[in-house]
Amino acid sequence: MFFSQKILHWYSENKRSLPWRSTRDPYKIWLSEVILQQTRVVQGEPYYLKFVENFPTVQDLAKASEERVLKLWQGLGYYSRARNLHATAKTVVREYGGRFPNSYDELLKLKGIGDYTASAIASICFDEPRPVVDGNVYRVLARYFGIDIPINSTKGIRYFKQLAVEVMDRKNIRDYNQGIMEFGAIQCAPKKPYCLLCPLNESCIGLKENLVHTLPVKENRTKIRRRNFNYLVWVDPNNTTKLSQRKGKGIWQNLWEFPLLESENELNDKELKKMISGDVSFRLSLYNESPIVHKLSHQHLYTKFWIIESKARLEDGISWANLESYPVPVLIADFIKAFKNSYF
Ligand code: ADE
Repeated sequence: MFFSQKILHWYSENKRSLPWRSTRDPYKIWLSEVILQQTRVVQGEPYYLKFVENFPTVQDLAKASEERVLKLWQGLGYYSRARNLHATAKTVVREYGGRFPNSYDELLKLKGIGDYTASAIASICFDEPRPVVDGNVYRVLARYFGIDIPINSTKGIRYFKQLAVEVMDRKNIRDYNQGIMEFGAIQCAPKKPYCLLCPLNESCIGLKENLVHTLPVKENRTKIRRRNFNYLVWVDPNNTTKLSQRKGKGIWQNLWEFPLLESENELNDKELKKMISGDVSFRLSLYNESPIVHKLSHQHLYTKFWIIESKARLEDGISWANLESYPVPVLIADFIKAFKNSYF
């Protein structure tokens, strides 16, 4: 049996029943694939269901406010994906009459749709023989064929795409693509693959050469940047606070947060007090003694939440009761939840 037939056979016996598996609607497949680039199937499913419920069609998504889209996306991270999703929905409505392009080449022209997403939509919805290559596929191919070229190098990206084209099943591409990803997620898992019971174990080179735990190889390129964040959490006698919206490029564009002081080094309360402007009288306390470390792909945010209880009322304060309606980073959402429970 060929590699692809083994994958198809495994998939027919092991596939999970998931809401996007029973449709060929390119809008829904697109939604599911963009969400699944951000998170695993188990965490992604509720997001998918929320999006489909709130925006059943691409027209509904196009009409929505960016705030609403970001709010539904909250927790998935990498918010430019959500903004691209929204922008592309508008393009599909405006320039394609609300119908998704039905080929890989045309799909690639849309914002935020790269090789992976175009391949997924073209194959799952239109049976176009285009192999998907995501993290699962890299792992399965690297192990099964015993390939140690770094998957994030230019050479590796080209090599694995070529290999994926050679081994795919052109006639059953919809199931084959989903099958290899599912196989990678469940059977050929990153840390604890089930090699003993794997139907591909007799021909797996990685297993034969004892390389399963060293494949796939990844080049180490990015240096993690450390940043110190000080959030100013105001509370006034009316139980209101201040939020501001992040502008510019970079992390969390357009999301809301407490007023932020970023500092070169960690600040103590004396240093921070000096930096709070104005002549209002207030009481300052630190909510978390040691910084909360929020890890993003290229930076670690060492975060302190400073509680500033103001004696005077804030101008244009936002009620603590209404904070949940603002799209905020998860770091802030977690804080708001915990703080409200302990403070009010
Ligand atoms: N991961 C991303 N997309 C997937 C899909 N369609 N099936 C299984 N796993 C996936």
